[in-house]
Amino acid sequence: MAVRALWYSRGTLRLLDQRRLPGARRVLALTRVAEVAEAIRTMAVRGAPAIGVAAAYGMALASRERGRTPESAARLLGSTRPTANDLFVGIEEVRRAWADGADPLRAADAYKDRIVGECRAIGEAGADLFDRRRRVLTHCNAGALATVEWGTALAPLRVAFGRGVPLFVWVDETRPLLQGARLTAWELAREGIPHAVISDNAAGHFMHTGEVDAVIVGADRIARNGDFANKIGTYEKAVLAHENGLPFYVAAPFSTFDGSCADGAHIPVEERAGREVTELGGRPLAPRASPARNPAFDVTPARYVTGFVTPAGVVRPSTVARLAGRSGLRAYRVGTGAPRSGRAP
Ligand code: MRU
Repeated sequence: MAVRALWYSRGTLRLLDQRRLPGARRVLALTRVAEVAEAIRTMAVRGAPAIGVAAAYGMALASRERGRTPESAARLLGSTRPTANDLFVGIEEVRRAWADGADPLRAADAYKDRIVGECRAIGEAGADLFDRRRRVLTHCNAGALATVEWGTALAPLRVAFGRGVPLFVWVDETRPLLQGARLTAWELAREGIPHAVISDNAAGHFMHTGEVDAVIVGADRIARNGDFANKIGTYEKAVLAHENGLPFYVAAPFSTFDGSCADGAHIPVEERAGREVTELGGRPLAPRASPARNPAFDVTPARYVTGFVTPAGVVRPSTVARLAGRSGLRAYRVGTGAPRSGRAP
């Protein structure tokens, strides 16, 4: 039943076109790096880990094109969307292999397998958090569509539900592109996980009336001090969770952690076309003369985060700072093993 965002075989990268969901299930078949870059830019594929994997395969496709260098392909793919750290990690993994004379396709496959494995581990690491806190709010889509398989924020919910926990998921619609209403609800409905779509404006209401037990979201880039970027609207949900005494979790693979970024002020925030706000499906929602601003992400300070759900277990923001400052979270996984309980160390 679980969905897969993309898959590669014999010179073709296939993507489920996420702009069309849930209305139509259209698969794009891409054979050139420029097509992959366009699919990322126009959000046919989206979500930080998924665009990292798509870009890794884009690099592999580029390596078959006459006249392409690893650097020119990396520049093209890296110019598509600025915020998600994963994009640059996926590109770099394959660029390095290609430049070293290794097989770029093998490197892309290995990167994809690593991301899928890490998302699965996030599911195992975070599932216990929802044993008793069963009414969970999420923002945007941080499911299989955003990560290839499993998801980040949705992975612990999938695992908990699979273990028999009677979960209920509040799905923020996520204006302006409606990733929650269109994509998260679609994933949950396919798997029979009880949920309700709410307007973004309603999240605070349901927290205040005591109908939300916890919040979990994904991330696009996590700075060394634990500040993180995620879909626009995440910041206000974190503040509302704090105000209402609710735990607020952020789930992400290692590729989202940016050890070179000191804090949230250094995270580049993508600004997209204003018409994504003033139009819906090509129909105007606002007077044509009215300009709009459309930041695609916002930055949430680390103080609002109860724990990061990583493939290594659940860690506090202060632990992220300590580990990223030394040899990075990956070393933490290797060195100390994953805490299995839902409590942050
Ligand atoms: O603009 P999008 O749809 O690519 O934004 C996606 C998000 O903000 C997700 O929450 C984030 O990438 C984490 S996905 C596992």
